[in-house]
Amino acid sequence: MLTADKTSIIKATVPILETGGEALTTHFYKIMLDEYPQVRPLFNQAHQASGAQPRALANSVLLYARNIDKLQELGPLAGQIVNKHVALQVLPEHYPIVGACLLRAIREVLGPDIATDAVIDAWGAAYQQLADMLIGAEATMYDKLAAARGGWRGARSFRVARKQVESAEITSFYLEPADGQPVIDFIPGQYLGLQLVINGQEVRRNYSLSAAPNDHGYRISVKREQGGLVSNFLHDNVMEGATLGVFPPAGDFTLQESTAPLVLISGGVGITPTLAMAEAALAKGGRNVIFLHYARDGKARAFGKTLADWAARYPRFRHFTVLEHGDAGDAHAVGRPTIEHMQNWLPAGLDYDVYFLGPKPFMAAIKRFLLTLGLPDERRRYEFFGPAEALD
Ligand SMILES: Cc1cc2nc3c(=O)[nH]c(=O)nc-3n(C[C@H](O)[C@H](O)[C@H](O)COP(=O)(O)OP(=O)(O)OC[C@H]3O[C@@H](n4cnc5c(N)ncnc54)[C@H](O)[C@@H]3O)c2cc1C
Ligand code: HEM
Repeated sequence: MLTADKTSIIKATVPILETGGEALTTHFYKIMLDEYPQVRPLFNQAHQASGAQPRALANSVLLYARNIDKLQELGPLAGQIVNKHVALQVLPEHYPIVGACLLRAIREVLGPDIATDAVIDAWGAAYQQLADMLIGAEATMYDKLAAARGGWRGARSFRVARKQVESAEITSFYLEPADGQPVIDFIPGQYLGLQLVINGQEVRRNYSLSAAPNDHGYRISVKREQGGLVSNFLHDNVMEGATLGVFPPAGDFTLQESTAPLVLISGGVGITPTLAMAEAALAKGGRNVIFLHYARDGKARAFGKTLADWAARYPRFRHFTVLEHGDAGDAHAVGRPTIEHMQNWLPAGLDYDVYFLGPKPFMAAIKRFLLTLGLPDERRRYEFFGPAEALD
């Protein structure tokens, strides 16, 4: 526990963090990535460049400082961080590096008048308290993943058993463990961590599991990002028969048990976790599944045949596809998402659960429509394909 003195120093620094938190975390990342090459593979440089990662860290530090005397209020944020850390294999030995860089950034950005020895001391103790909490929760999750049937710890070698082109931009990779042993179950909505070496540099990325769990392997579906390091490497250089390092599944955007109708709304490659959710819910039975998918155009549209096959096989499945541009073809509409789509295609009344994912402006629009319809907050869940951000 922090002393009362240190707690009040932390609380007193909240206004400073509110205005300068992002500058501080940006400086922190620069120090860490320049001086500690051993942690570089964990971080996605594009998330630093866009500011999304420094913003996510600044927001969490701010929330932490505000709640320093009532840590239980951190609630879902801690779970979100732990899942992200586990999927990228953040380990206890990484924490002192982050702690040292954070304290140095506080000193250098705030200057000696504000960052006095007492302030640094209080933040050092507070960081340790938070680090201990995360290290403990992460150790529990690593142990659980290693102990479960088909589970493992760290990177396990998987073979690309099959590559399947799904659209002009998306290709699926069917991954099977090189040791031929079973794989751990996951909850639909979760993702894997991939470990690759590209041009002699180790890199890691997360990819959502795009098919329901089975005993022997996983499917991920990857969009080719213009200028993207890993997605292009996977598309162009990772052929059937190649092996990849894979970290066990994690993630807190997970399909919850329910019999209420399940509404899945995706934009572009955001379709991946919703495919796993739909497939698992349909196989289990007992609930209606309504699937809305928005694609840029006919060429970018993926998994059309899968959706049509499910519609033919499962009376409880209905799907609607909207193309932003071009001919509608067999899609249901052309344009961007509208509230009329929700009014026309979602079940009447508000007794349903919604999971959605796509580009940030897309998700912001969906969230707004659901609010306008009056859907209670606890009935919607969403995920980011990157550091969590505010949607408002
Ligand atoms: C939980 C989760 C689940 C995900 N699931 C999926 C999935 O199912 N399918 C999928 O396709 N993706 C998924 N992603 C995204 C995936 O992890 C990668 O971020 C994505 O494939 C892009 O990686 P990349 O290495 O190809 O691109 P990056 O090299 O990371 O680049 C991304 C973009 O940023 C630009 N960029 C890179 N570096 C810089 C720089 N220094 N300055 C400015 N711009 C820069 C690039 O040109 C490119 O446009 C998921 C992400 C998360 C967090
Ligand atoms: C108390 C210490 C820490 C806090 C408060 C913290 C907080 C966070 C937060 C808020 C996120 C974003 C989660 C999201 O996407 O929603 C995150 C992601 C991440 N953290 Fe930490 N973290 C801490 C320690 C560490 C350490 C020690 C490492 C390893 C060096 C690390 C590596 C990462 C990585 C690699 C990501 C994902 C980055 C990305 O998507 O580009 N973190 N962390």
